[in-house]
Amino acid sequence: MRNILVTSALPYANGPIHIGHLVEYIQTDIWARAQRLRGNRCLYICADDTHGTAIMIRAAAEGRTPEALIADVREQHLAAFSEMDVHFDHFGSTNSSENFAICSEIWASLRKAGLVREKKVSQLYDTQVGTFLADRFVRGTCPKCGKPDQYGDSCDCGATYSPADLIHPVSALSGTTPELREAQHLFVEIEQLHDFLNAWTQSGNHLQPEIANYLAGHFLGDKLHDWDISRPAPYFGFEIPDSPGNYWYVWFDAPIGYIGSTLEYCKRTGEDFDRLWRSDATEIHHFIGKDITYFHTLFWPCMLKTAGFNLPTRVHIHGFLTVNGEKMSKSKGTFIKAETFAKHLDSAYLRYYYASKLTGRVDDLDLNLVDMTQKVNADLVGNLVNLASRTAKFVRDLGLSVEYPQDDGMFAYGAGLADEIAEAYEHCDFAKVTRLVMSIGDRANKLIEDTAPWTLRKDPAKKQQLQDVCTIALNLYRQMVIYLSPILPRLAVQTGELLDEDAKQWTLDDVKTPLRGTKVNEFKHLMQRMDTKNIDAMIEETRAENAPVESKPQWNDSGDALAAEPMEGICTIDDFGKVDLRVARIVMAEDVPEAKKLLHLTLSLGGEKTLNVFAGIKAAYKPEDLLGRLVICVANLQPRQMKFGLSEGMICAAGGGGKDVFLLTPDKGAVPGHRVH
Ligand code: MSP
Ligand code: ZN
Repeated sequence: MRNILVTSALPYANGPIHIGHLVEYIQTDIWARAQRLRGNRCLYICADDTHGTAIMIRAAAEGRTPEALIADVREQHLAAFSEMDVHFDHFGSTNSSENFAICSEIWASLRKAGLVREKKVSQLYDTQVGTFLADRFVRGTCPKCGKPDQYGDSCDCGATYSPADLIHPVSALSGTTPELREAQHLFVEIEQLHDFLNAWTQSGNHLQPEIANYLAGHFLGDKLHDWDISRPAPYFGFEIPDSPGNYWYVWFDAPIGYIGSTLEYCKRTGEDFDRLWRSDATEIHHFIGKDITYFHTLFWPCMLKTAGFNLPTRVHIHGFLTVNGEKMSKSKGTFIKAETFAKHLDSAYLRYYYASKLTGRVDDLDLNLVDMTQKVNADLVGNLVNLASRTAKFVRDLGLSVEYPQDDGMFAYGAGLADEIAEAYEHCDFAKVTRLVMSIGDRANKLIEDTAPWTLRKDPAKKQQLQDVCTIALNLYRQMVIYLSPILPRLAVQTGELLDEDAKQWTLDDVKTPLRGTKVNEFKHLMQRMDTKNIDAMIEETRAENAPVESKPQWNDSGDALAAEPMEGICTIDDFGKVDLRVARIVMAEDVPEAKKLLHLTLSLGGEKTLNVFAGIKAAYKPEDLLGRLVICVANLQPRQMKFGLSEGMICAAGGGGKDVFLLTPDKGAVPGHRVH
């Protein structure tokens, strides 16, 4: 029995899980379940990747803390994974004390090994927001071709450059022109581990050959660049213990999150941490997309090696998803969230379709919606589920035959595929798994067509023959479902219920012995045909989610406000003239803690003249937001002694009270003391 720890890349906590991510999480989940089916111990560990500028900025824009944002996203991620039957043994967070502890440990090892160096870096700085700008937060005119509105590191024309080279750079955060500033950064000199990286990447065991070649051709032929792993404050992340004011760059603590999350798991379950990450007893397997290859195949092995953790046994790298031959697109409605998929379609469709396309190679894979419908309906409904739906009900009372009938070697054929299927799972060639399994069903369906159980059933003399045909069909069906159980875990559970077994106990050996004389339970619907109507609805909903919000003003002219406070009787111009309305500036504003509704204000009418006012606007305004603001006040109101002091005027506001209070502000140009006529 092997002891395996498998991970998927940690999803960023700034967005929802979509069908592109699912290529990876479904692939890993299938692989982990296949290992368990083979009798190996396999832990599937993941976590949210929570740090970095993008999350900090989004939280600020939404007026909440990054911690509140990542807590919310975590719930969404967990719900999405569960709907797609992706099961983790532990799903942690990079923002945990466990992760900080491991980061500190690895950092100390890097320091001790003499790999850390300090260097000055010039970077664009947004003076309004008060932060250094990562490359993708700067836009400007390409220095090579002159095209406007390009990213800070590259242009549509193919040119790459540093953001400081952009002509007219603009901060994407504030729209202001950033300035070049210098800061001390910390670097890891991975060049010192060049020989180790040559050996590790080129050993032929740990990486797919195309990846090993890519690294040899693009990186390992030259001196390796120092890796900039610190960012100055403000940054959402971990402050570096021996470098106050500097934070570890998110890509430092993200992969360490694999270990941090394992530590969380060990604390929860009491399992031995060192046996998982610091002993030959455990194989580590990472699954990642090709876009993050170099973080996992260059920096990561260096960190692990230096700090004495297990190196990955293998890094399995997959390609990118296209939909109908194109990049996922918001406007075309193909940027489909896991949640939206699960709302309209059975998660089994996606799991099976991805499986039928995954070969263990790095190539991109295409989700063609028409092809998916045909494949799912032909293989899952027409071939697989058909075997059960056309036979199970005829043996509901009889059960399966006591002797396994003569079947022309069909069961033996299926059983004989076990090793080949196990190998295919091991090498992530799930496409081969589905082909082999469907070849069992092709034969079984032919038997059903030829013997027509629905006709046998009408002749009482053919009862034994009917039972035998159903026994063969259901055993072949069961064999197929056991083989496919890593891909279709939900169907496996349903099939277990039908055949009176516990699917959770199945191992690959169970394909070798047919069920005989056992009960068959009530047939419940197993799987629906995939319907293009549901695909259309899913695409439509995705498109609507991403439609630009209309920028037309939102008018509410319903008349509700007028009805709530009907008009007064006539007032003469003389009546009105008695009310002295003035422009005033709020020069002091403070809370009155003992009063539920009141703020204490000082209004200036210009010069020395001020009014002391208690205003019932606490539910609608914060004192600090009022300072300096121009308002309209009733300046000659009879002063009134209140519990908290003398109120000498009133400020004018619209609205019904409570939170619905809208202060009036004069147009530009008005100054304190102007009278309102
Ligand atoms: N947070 C980093 C990973 C840190 S691992 C220590 C990250 N997050 S991600 O959310 O952008 O992507 C998570 C995984 O999903 C990555 O392996 C990425 O390659 C994969 N995919 C994201 N979009 C994808 C497609 N469109 N197609 C296939 N895989 C995709 O990267
Ligand atoms: Zn250009």
